[in-house]
Parts: sequence; C-alpha cells; structure tokens
Amino acid sequence: MAMKAIVYEKYGPPEVLKSIETQKPIPKSNELLVKVKAIALNPLDYRIRRGWIRPLTDFNFPRSIGSDFSGEVVEVGDKVSSFQKGDRVYGMSFQIFSGTSADYIKVKASVLSVIPDTLSFEQAAAVPLAAQTSLQALRDMGHLEKNGRVLVNGASGGVGVFAIGIGKIMGAHITAVTSFRNIDFVKELGADEVIDYTKEDFTKLDQKYDVIFDCWGNKNFIKVKGSLEEKGIYISTIPNVKNFFLSLKNIINQKKGKVVLVKSKNEDLETLKGYIDQGSLRVVIDKIFPKSEIIEAYKYLETKRAKGKVVVSFE
Ligand SMILES: NC(=O)c1ccc[n+]([C@@H]2O[C@H](COP(=O)([O-])OP(=O)(O)OC[C@H]3O[C@@H](n4cnc5c(N)ncnc54)[C@H](OP(=O)(O)O)[C@@H]3O)[C@@H](O)[C@H]2O)c1
Repeated sequence: MAMKAIVYEKYGPPEVLKSIETQKPIPKSNELLVKVKAIALNPLDYRIRRGWIRPLTDFNFPRSIGSDFSGEVVEVGDKVSSFQKGDRVYGMSFQIFSGTSADYIKVKASVLSVIPDTLSFEQAAAVPLAAQTSLQALRDMGHLEKNGRVLVNGASGGVGVFAIGIGKIMGAHITAVTSFRNIDFVKELGADEVIDYTKEDFTKLDQKYDVIFDCWGNKNFIKVKGSLEEKGIYISTIPNVKNFFLSLKNIINQKKGKVVLVKSKNEDLETLKGYIDQGSLRVVIDKIFPKSEIIEAYKYLETKRAKGKVVVSFE
C-alpha cells in the first residue's frame, strides 16, 4: 500500500524537503503502525538534514525527518498487549534510522504512550522530545530538590519552556535566562527571576545555583562552574566532544558537568501525561503549520526565535 512521506535525498537547507509516494511500513510483532496526525520540530532535525552527523546518517536516503509524533494506532503487532487499534498515542522515534514525517510510521511499543486526555494531536506532538529532555535532565541528572535553585539557559525555547514547568512542579526556584523579547513570557510560565542575556552574562553575576540546565548550549562546564554551588551540577543539551570531555574530567570533583541525551520511555511519557492532565504542566506551541508548509515551518524554527514548540499538522 502506498502513502506520502516528506523526505530529503541530499543534505541541505529546508528546501531539500519534498513529498514523495512510498510504501506504507509493515510493523514487526513488537511494533505498532501509527497514522501520524502531527509532528513537532526540533533542532536535531535540521542538524541531521544539514549533514552534521554524516557518519551516522549517510546510509539511508531518501530520509524522512522528525522525531516527535502524535497519531492513532491502526495496526498492532502480535506481541504487543499494551495498545489497541484506535489508541491516541504520542512519542519520539530514533531519527537516525527513520523520521516521523510520513502518513504512517511503525514504532516500537516501548517508546510511546497514550496521549494526555486534555491535549489535541498538535499539542501532544509538542511534548515527547523536549519535555522528556527536561524531565530526564532535572530529575535524573540534576536530582533537583524542593527549593533547589535552578538556572535555565535558553528558557523560552522548546526545551526551556518545559524545564520551567517541570522545575516548578519539583518545587524549585527558577532563574530563566532569555532575551528582552521573552521576559514577560517566561515570567508568565512561572520563572521566579529572569536574566536578559543581551544585557547580562549570568556567569559574571554573584548568584550560585544547585543546577544549571543549559538548554541553549552556548556555555560549558568551565564557563559556568563559578556559578555552581559546592555540589552543583551543570547539564548541557549539546553532545559535543568538549562537553563529554569536560563531563569525564569533572566527575571526580564535587561539582559536575554532564550532557543529557534524551531517551523515549513509556514511563516518562506517562509521568508527563499525569502532569499535563492535572493541569500542572503547560504545553506551549508557538506556531502550527500545515503539512504543505513544512519548509516554512523549518525556516521558522531555524530563525532560533521560537517561543515553545513549532508543530506541523498532518491531518
Ligand atoms: N541532547 C539532547 O538530548 C537534546 C534534546 C533536546 C534538545 N537538544 C538541543 O537543545 C538545544 C535547544 O533546543 P530547543 O528545542 O529548546 O531549541 P529552540 O526551541 O530552537 O530554542 C529557541 C529559543 O532559544 C533562545 N535563544 C536563542 N539564542 C539564545 C542565547 N544566546 N541564549 C539563550 N537563549 C537563546 C531563543 O530565545 P530569544 O529569542 O529570547 O533569544 C528562543 O526562544 C538545541 O541545540 C537542541 O539540539 C538536545
């Protein structure tokens, strides 16, 4: 059976994306076939599309794009008992092998969950990658505690908005670093203090933090260590050689530098569903584009000015 997918056949700018007709995937016994309703965009997508991790991605052109998805289960593998046809699901797939920008995708049952009752498909697609990154960084790596002081650098972007929300749920005091464009926005999301990075560099101020979550990734452990409490932890979202080297080097010290590498887990998606359905965690979407405007959607994300998430509807 045929379907449409949005793919690229060579690395490059958003314009390399195009819609093609291709074969509908056939799920294995531990997989589900999902009719995609929406995808959310992430900087990882354009890094791969520009060819920044070629050794890992050169092998399968044409490549589809996107990690995040929401949709409806239309087929269930023999060995899957946790989902049934018609379930509304959300999750993220491992984009190195296959992206989510297609009418149908096959997904392992272990990486998705039923979507929060209160969310539309567009809102649900915005959650998996960015919110799991923030949850896994603050809870599992930062061990953030009630009344802990956390600084979120890049607080107005896809990851940062969830970091503010999850930090508040954990009872932390949050300092958001953003530009003058987004001061009111991050305050409204719950930030206790705001630093405008166009006026002040937080690493030059006296304040110290238990956790510095560098969602934007333009600092590193050496630059921020003076702003960490004695046992403070710096977490970067940028998995480059320098950050990994610094994290190894500093693991023997009290202060730590770490790099988060998000993983999709049923239980974390369920935790997030709980937060969202209780009304404790907001999903903030900056813009929703129709599938026919996916190139414009990536151009917008690549301005690096998104406030919350950019979503593409496949309905
Ligand atoms: N390792 C992982 O597992 C993982 C997971 C998720 C994301 N990431 C990475 O994390 C980074 C952020 O992702 P994202 O989805 O949040 O990106 P995004 O949504 O594109 O971020 C856009 C935001 O970044 C802010 N920003 C731009 N320049 C800034 C600066 N110099 N200082 C502070 N904020 C700045 C902008 O606010 P202003 O307009 O106010 O400047 C804008 O609101 C990306 O590099 C992404 O690849 C890694």
